[in-house]
Amino acid sequence: MSETLDDIISRYINTRRDSLIPLLQEIQNELGYLSEDAINRIGQMTGLPTVKIYGVATFYDQFRFEPQGKFHIKVCHGTACHVNSSMMIIRELERILKIKNGQTTRDGMYSLEVVNCMGACAVGPVININGEYIHDVEPQKIKALLDNCLSNASAYETHNL
Ligand code: FES
Repeated sequence: MSETLDDIISRYINTRRDSLIPLLQEIQNELGYLSEDAINRIGQMTGLPTVKIYGVATFYDQFRFEPQGKFHIKVCHGTACHVNSSMMIIRELERILKIKNGQTTRDGMYSLEVVNCMGACAVGPVININGEYIHDVEPQKIKALLDNCLSNASAYETHNL
């Protein structure tokens, strides 16, 4: 177990169920997701049953239980993007990638996260891939966007051989 993880948990050593959320958020920020090892370590160090920790974590959409993919796709489902059919974008991503919100494709290439307003309401629906914003997204352009990710990835890998 990394010292960093233990350091984080030790700041919450007397944690109770309702103060678990900031601890889980900090761990997810550090690791990118909540691993089984991390949940078990929280249980060991705080004395809370792991089933309770999972119970809290799974209650909230914000927590992930799988590592992020090479391309992490955030889709805005805030009010303005919802009005501009962001649900169709989400469905198309789910259909092509065969994953749901919070999941990662089996090959580790893509992960999907549905989020609230990303602050670009006037140009929605908006998605963000590895920090790059793409606006006015249309469902029929999703496949090309994903293909573009893959060709960028292979160009990067070839460049770094
Ligand atoms: S609602 Fe999507 S950017 Fe604001």
